[in-house]
Amino acid sequence: MLNGKRILLIVAGGIAAFKSLELIRKLRARGASVRCVLTDAGAKFVTPLSLQALTEDKVYSDMFSLTDESEMGHIQLSRDADLVVVAPATANLLARMAAGMADDLAATVLLATDKPVLAAPAMNVRMWTHAATVANVETLKKRGVIFVGPNDGAMACNEFGPGRMSEPEEIAVAIEAVLGASTGPLAGKRALVTSGPTREAIDPVRYISNHSSGKQGHAIAAALARLGCEVTLVSGPVAVADPPGVKVVRIDSADEMLAACLAAGKLDVAVFAAAVADWKAAKPATAKIKKKAGAPPPALELVPNPDVLATVSKPGAQRPLLVVGFAAETENLVANAIDKRKRKGCDWMVANDVSPATGTFGGERNTVHLVTGEGVEEWPTLAKDEVAGRLADRIARQLGAPRTLKAAE
Ligand code: PMT
Repeated sequence: MLNGKRILLIVAGGIAAFKSLELIRKLRARGASVRCVLTDAGAKFVTPLSLQALTEDKVYSDMFSLTDESEMGHIQLSRDADLVVVAPATANLLARMAAGMADDLAATVLLATDKPVLAAPAMNVRMWTHAATVANVETLKKRGVIFVGPNDGAMACNEFGPGRMSEPEEIAVAIEAVLGASTGPLAGKRALVTSGPTREAIDPVRYISNHSSGKQGHAIAAALARLGCEVTLVSGPVAVADPPGVKVVRIDSADEMLAACLAAGKLDVAVFAAAVADWKAAKPATAKIKKKAGAPPPALELVPNPDVLATVSKPGAQRPLLVVGFAAETENLVANAIDKRKRKGCDWMVANDVSPATGTFGGERNTVHLVTGEGVEEWPTLAKDEVAGRLADRIARQLGAPRTLKAAE
């Protein structure tokens, strides 16, 4: 997947710098060449010699080295790569990037580059949640810097929380997603994916929702991005991390999900994996509904939510070329999915067995059938990211093929 790609890896000063060595190994095993810039602080954690041995290339640290400048100027260093990766991206380096500083070779390269930049933050939890870092990350995201992680977990400083650098494999996958964007089979295509549950307010503190974790929808967004697709992910409240290289729009209710989907613009494909609440409270209370002694429980009047999938599936100039729904069923799986495909007007329906024994909601695996206009494909039970990868491959084949979709009758 990374054959022939050139990665410029900037290693800054954090305990996570040791993971950069493993990252280099993984990138080279995937066919990429890696060249390193090491900051002074980074050199306190890993040696130039280790980086040089693993990359089989010179390691750059000094902005004022006459030899380095004559061989490979710092501007050239910033341009002579397909992707600049900052791992670990410390609070200090993120702050200098956000401020546009050029006070060492790493910051100068980042200021001078015209290539995409991917950052893998690593720092103490309080540094990561500090308002200054939050603002710096927001600024960098607005400027197009792509972030992978950080993860939650135990930290070197005996604290716990977000701030651990993503694992080398996660960073390598994120790099594939970013670089696939220009070379994958879905390069130039635009996708919308919905994921997670919706929350329908009953009053300011209570809501109607379901057990969707977002694992399946997020995996689909990541798989499409890996194939080069430009993906917008509209997600309800979930705990899973944002997939790298994907634009994430967060919503709560079905009404907000519909508005976000309609705002996504012209699309090649839309995949509706979210578990949208079918009903919402007719009149959500503006203040907390009080429990009154002796009074019966309040009656909750429900009204239907808009059907996001059916709305986007309506024929018209704005309709995506391929619309894929998910049917969560506990009985008559395939028959119900075939019927749902027709009623909602989508092209494909992924029939999903969500009987409690399957553990599909929130679990790691999924058993699906793909219902198309041509028939029904039975897929084996797979990990959710395998389902996602298979679906993304099918989508790539479909969008690459001449238009042979049979619209749902
Ligand atoms: O999130 P996970 O824990 O990983 O679990 C995955 C999943 C089980 C949530 C997912 O794979 C799945 O099956 N999603 C669809 C759940 C669902 O709402 O199914 P449904 O049969 O009720 O709806 C059919 C389709 O219509 C879905 O594509 C749904 O997004 C869409 N819909 C439903 C109601 C509504 N008001 N608007 C919609 O767009």
